[in-house]
Amino acid sequence: MSLRTQSSLDVNEDALKELSAHVTNLVFEYLTTISERPVRAENHAGKTLAAIDTELSSEGRPLDQLLDECRSVMDLSRHNGHPRFFGYVASPSTPIGAYADLIASALNANITCWRSGPAGTELERMVVRWLGALIDYDRDAKGLLTSGGSMANMIALLVAQRRKSGVNTSRQGLWNAGPPMTIYASEEVHMSIAKAADILGFGRDQVRTIACDERQRMRIDVLRQKIEADRREGLRPFCVVGSAGTVNTGVVDPLNEIADVAAEFDLWFHVDGAYGAPGSLDERKEHLFAGIERAGSVSLDPHKWLYVPVDAGCLLFRDADAARAAFSTEDADYIKTHGYTDEEAFAFWDYGVELSRRFRALKVWMTLQYYGKRRIAEAISQDIALAAYLGEIVSRAEDFELLAPVELSICCFRYVPESGMGDAELDRLNERIMEMVQKGGRAYLSNATVNGKFALRACITNFRTTKSDIEETVAAVREAAKSLRT
Ligand SMILES: Cc1ncc(COP(=O)(O)O)c(C=O)c1O
Repeated sequence: MSLRTQSSLDVNEDALKELSAHVTNLVFEYLTTISERPVRAENHAGKTLAAIDTELSSEGRPLDQLLDECRSVMDLSRHNGHPRFFGYVASPSTPIGAYADLIASALNANITCWRSGPAGTELERMVVRWLGALIDYDRDAKGLLTSGGSMANMIALLVAQRRKSGVNTSRQGLWNAGPPMTIYASEEVHMSIAKAADILGFGRDQVRTIACDERQRMRIDVLRQKIEADRREGLRPFCVVGSAGTVNTGVVDPLNEIADVAAEFDLWFHVDGAYGAPGSLDERKEHLFAGIERAGSVSLDPHKWLYVPVDAGCLLFRDADAARAAFSTEDADYIKTHGYTDEEAFAFWDYGVELSRRFRALKVWMTLQYYGKRRIAEAISQDIALAAYLGEIVSRAEDFELLAPVELSICCFRYVPESGMGDAELDRLNERIMEMVQKGGRAYLSNATVNGKFALRACITNFRTTKSDIEETVAAVREAAKSLRT
């Protein structure tokens, strides 16, 4: 059967049925076998391209061949949804989230503004409010969905700077904004803050690194000292970033105390909760987040700990005027909205960088509504409990050392054989253990530096993980360590 019509890129009904059935099967096959796969197949650079036809077809290729190759691409991917994947901050996508993304792509709405994507815009504004309420930030939060936490953090810093500069930097540029404006964040803050300061022209050096206490939380006395010192130098402190779940160890900064300092020195208070903010859904951890409601803006990634497929970040704020002042443009006649009510004239381009935007809200909405808040909260609590369980195992073991308290769902530890090895040697050994575990495909850990030491780091944002997966991961680490030492 000829699957393609001759005249267009559209396909006939039979071909569409075949395509839908085969692709749905492929997804079904993947989601029902993910736990049995190696976390990462044996792989090397070039292996994927060797497994597929790399010539660009002139006339198109049969669907079955293409799907076979797609299977190879899937096989050779790292499976972030595997129950023993604990690297970086990567969660499995829920099945409903994956299908929601398919629906969004089929609809192909471009959520630039209400006029272009009326349904998508209304859903996004609702979902943003839900996210604000979910983490007890604000029941009437404003904001937008973004590609991720890096973009959310960058937008926040620009809004903050524009709000605090007192000069029209939008027109005149930073050259006319007076003495350098400075940002404050702990030494554990995510790299996206320094990167944003770089991209926005503030300069990485204008991000003042605040030392942490023994629990890796920002030291408020140091924060205050640095702000005062900069002020004496004639610099202009404008923003402090608190982390609600640091990427290294999952620690939450003392948000209320940071908010006090921000209020005292008239700084914008941004909270980077890209990873950790949903941790507040666990009532045992809720207290850690006290003060988040005092922030001017909060980053929170549904594609991390709300199990929504990439990409889905979010920036929440209260002061929509500040965001609009940073991004709205009077110059482009071709995008002006004519003849609409205020609500219908709403445009996301007034609040962020992107013009064309995916319909991200659909997968966030469908995920939250399919499971409901209680089930999502349970999955988060379970992740937290499993990280604590790993922490207990390594604390009790003679051959492991816990390197940081387990505050949310991240556990940092290292393998320490009985012989008295120094830190440098232990760093090298643990680095090799990590490499071996990663390549072995049984489990996947990444790394962090904790108080100068190389740590094996497990970040559990994974609703598929069970206690036995934790035990198997520990066994994989021990096995790697033993094979390296024999
Ligand atoms: C605390 C924190 N902030 C920001 C980011 C950046 O998020 P994204 O990768 O979505 O840009 C991460 C990523 O892991 C993070 O953990």
